[in-house]
Amino acid sequence: MGERDVPRHVAVIMDGNGRWAKKRLLPRGAGHRAGMNRMIGLAEHVFDRGIRYLTLFALSTENLSRPREELEGLYALFREYFPRNARTLREKGICLRVIGDRSLLPGDVVSLIEAGEALTAQGERGMLLLAIGYGGRQDILHAVNEAVRRGKEVTLEGFSAMLSTGGVPDPDLVIRTGRELRISNFLLWQSAYSELYFTDVLFPDFSDREMDKAIEAYACRERRFGKL
Ligand code: IPE
Ligand code: IPE
Ligand code: MG
Repeated sequence: MGERDVPRHVAVIMDGNGRWAKKRLLPRGAGHRAGMNRMIGLAEHVFDRGIRYLTLFALSTENLSRPREELEGLYALFREYFPRNARTLREKGICLRVIGDRSLLPGDVVSLIEAGEALTAQGERGMLLLAIGYGGRQDILHAVNEAVRRGKEVTLEGFSAMLSTGGVPDPDLVIRTGRELRISNFLLWQSAYSELYFTDVLFPDFSDREMDKAIEAYACRERRFGKL
């Protein structure tokens, strides 16, 4: 595979944690833990392959309407994993950036996010974007309202820069694990010309090898961007 065929930015809709647990007769939280355990290894693998940006969709705006017990379990996992993972990311030279509406998250989780971002800010090997409390429509709406406040027409580039992913190139490849064939309010604006890859593999089972398969599939795609 040539340098040219390696995507710069890969984004993953991490779906299937609940079904992974169900298959094993475990509570859903065990699936979320297994998914969480996969994240750092996957990031390392991706950056080893020369990819510069990895976005992981961990929690959507709509997921925040799940039962309280499930959300509390997820926040408990964030509390447990965030400080540890932030230290690991710093050691590995990976910069963490969290996108999504922080006002929807518990205050102490927001503090951990901020601490993790500050700790890893110097990382130059790659950027891990974690989408938590994220919605594509909400991202666009937030930028629209900002544009209205500024009172000036915006360009395509100017608008992209106002989104939560400002400064990050659009994803070349969007992967969804867990069998569903939909985008579920992920990076709507940013994925206009992304290559899409769907796999039945549930996120906790999405191994380095599975990621390689997706990257290989990407290398075989012909991207035309509407041209001949
Ligand atoms: C994805 O796993 C992670 C989150 C949305 C929090 P799910 O929790 O949606 O897992 P399934 O789809 O029920 O298997
Ligand atoms: C999509 O998964 C969101 C994340 C993986 C964070 P969902 O499980 O929420 O998607 P739907 O409800 O099946 O569309
Ligand atoms: Mg799901």
